Amino acid sequence: MGSSKVVQKILWAVGAVITVVAFNNCGEGFTMANLSSVSGGSVEFSTAGGESCEEAIVKVYASTFHPFLNQTCGGCHVAGGIGLGVFGSPDVVPSYAAFANVGASKISSQAVNESHKPPYTGPQNQARITEINSYWGAAQDKYAQCLVDSGQAQVSAKVKSTAVKVPANLATTFVTMTWDLAGATPAAPLTATIDIRRAVLNGVTQGYEFRNPTLRLKNVSSGSYQVNTVNIYINMAKAEEATTYQNVSAVISTTTATNLSAGTANAIVVMTPSANDVIALEYETLKSTTATSPTPTPTATATATATPTNVTYSQLIAVGGVFANSCVSCHSSSNARGGLDLTKYANAKVAATNIQARMNNQNNPMPTSGILSEAQRTLVDVWVANGAPQ
Ligand code: HEC
Ligand code: HEC
Repeated sequence: MGSSKVVQKILWAVGAVITVVAFNNCGEGFTMANLSSVSGGSVEFSTAGGESCEEAIVKVYASTFHPFLNQTCGGCHVAGGIGLGVFGSPDVVPSYAAFANVGASKISSQAVNESHKPPYTGPQNQARITEINSYWGAAQDKYAQCLVDSGQAQVSAKVKSTAVKVPANLATTFVTMTWDLAGATPAAPLTATIDIRRAVLNGVTQGYEFRNPTLRLKNVSSGSYQVNTVNIYINMAKAEEATTYQNVSAVISTTTATNLSAGTANAIVVMTPSANDVIALEYETLKSTTATSPTPTPTATATATATPTNVTYSQLIAVGGVFANSCVSCHSSSNARGGLDLTKYANAKVAATNIQARMNNQNNPMPTSGILSEAQRTLVDVWVANGAPQ
């Protein structure tokens, strides 16, 4: 066991060296000024060098998931490849954007899934995925704290609700429980629900059964949130066996409740229920996708209530910006769909009015997956109205 750990470390070191070389060579796709400090990479989350929270988490990504995904999944999950999502890209920025959309849990479970694409995926990846996740999990916790400390309390990574008592006299009919995530840690302007009932088999209560976890914005101006992985906590303990919602991945941008797992099986937790049981929900990622400034002032929050008066290309293309989140997976130097590479300012400026038109075109929108929230589109409107400044 000791020696396999050593081999793992050596593989790790080789992976890290390859990454650095790739960065130095990747020039074109990696022109974002605010990320220039990413090249180094580190498995520890740190803002000691003056990095923003986003820059720091991308640095960790650059030396954990990125080299693995590029080496192992890059045959298919790249621009023009047959895989869904370009997280295998040699360039860290489109890779990270695609990775963030899918989520660490789903990526990890597919990496070790022997029925996905053997021989690339399967149990042979388990040791490396476990090691990557040990760094990534620790970094995510620090990243969440970084966002809170820097005043972006609504731009949260991991969010856990308060605990709510199970409905009185809970029987075998589903009842909907509701949480106001304004009371969550850290707070988020969303409302969550899940249906719960007693799970009964052959007349005997087996525990709790859950279905239909939903999320909705509390009000129309709350922005847009990426959510990945819902964990259920019963009496403060994580229900480890209830993994039904670990692959949840959705964007919440309306006040209409979105079912995060429509069509999947119900989650069942085997236990002896008590009227005093309390339930909490945890989101491994619940992150504003409308944050724009890489260096927010301490008092600024990421709500979209105030219309911004000045928006720059640098903000839109920075990690977390609209272009980085929603466009570069298809509009980078290595994957310029429609001939458009948004990672270069000159190209974005020339295409500015076209960008604005397509982002607001209900019938033929960009991104192709559907029109973005009003808050995100407004940022681009303001950018174009001001002459598309760099
Ligand atoms: C031989 C090609 C190939 C390889 C190699 C490959 N994939 Fe895939 N992957 C696909 C295809 C095709 C799809 C879409 C259809 C599907 O889900 O099977 C996909 C889909 C996925 C999805 C679902 C994406 C989404 O948005 O729902 C994930 C996650 C994923 N792959 C992870 C991986 C990981 C991690 C690796 C490397 C360890 C990998 N794949 C290697 C071809 C590949
Ligand atoms: C899933 C891939 C995908 C994403 C994500 C995406 N696009 Fe596109 N885009 C395309 C494709 C494919 C075309 C070419 C076909 C077309 O025009 O519909 C295109 C074309 C365009 C064009 C027209 C280019 C021209 O010169 O005709 C603009 C402008 C554009 N996209 C802007 C954006 C913006 C801005 C975003 C993000 C808000 C975005 N796209 C996100 C795939 C994508």
